[in-house]
Amino acid sequence: MRLDRLLGNLPQLNRSAARRLIAEGRVRVDGLAVRDGTFAVRDFSRVEVDDAVVQPGRTARYFMLNKPTGVVSATEHPEHRTVLDLLEQADRPDLHIAGRLDLTTTGLLILTNDGLWSRRLTEPRSRLGKVYRVRTEQPILPEYVETFAQGMYFAYEDLTTLPAELQILDSHEALLTLHEGRYHQVKRMFGHFRNKVTGLHRERMGPLQLDPDLASGDYRPLHVEEIAQV
Ligand code: URA
Repeated sequence: MRLDRLLGNLPQLNRSAARRLIAEGRVRVDGLAVRDGTFAVRDFSRVEVDDAVVQPGRTARYFMLNKPTGVVSATEHPEHRTVLDLLEQADRPDLHIAGRLDLTTTGLLILTNDGLWSRRLTEPRSRLGKVYRVRTEQPILPEYVETFAQGMYFAYEDLTTLPAELQILDSHEALLTLHEGRYHQVKRMFGHFRNKVTGLHRERMGPLQLDPDLASGDYRPLHVEEIAQV
């Protein structure tokens, strides 16, 4: 919300008093004086007028989880355990998932209550690659590399996927880097070659690498440097 509106909404202030306080440099956002009334204040920011705290700021939270198979990427589900069920009660409120994984897919899942940050991580124009380790039923052929790099037409959505990089590791295993997250995207890309995906594990999202010390089902808060890299 704009700073002048946030202050103007306080019971003890009106718009013009709020503007005056801002112009006088008496309003601080996260410790810094802000003299621009149009400044966009986030829910996570602490806002003070002189020595009075007018908004304490919500605590921003960021976690990485090593998702096991059979757990659904949702906050609620009638049948399956959800990824939120894997978190301690105190860590759960207001979290959303930044980039879901299918029921059987394993690996890196990010949970946060910071919508702006998670959008940066997931939206295609950020160009942050998501790296998947893929195992398949049939051998992976060199021709896949070019097809994936060119983009593939998905008739259901009437779109062409963004160029994706395939690195073949052995006959049935590869690393695939995507820059978007379409429904069942990896499975559909290999499905084009009638090659069934038998194992799918997300190892990385942009700068965030799944912590090798996290066992399946475990999670940890992101480090400050990891949050800042997104
Ligand atoms: N592509 C898929 O097919 N499934 C996932 O879980 C993620 C990407």
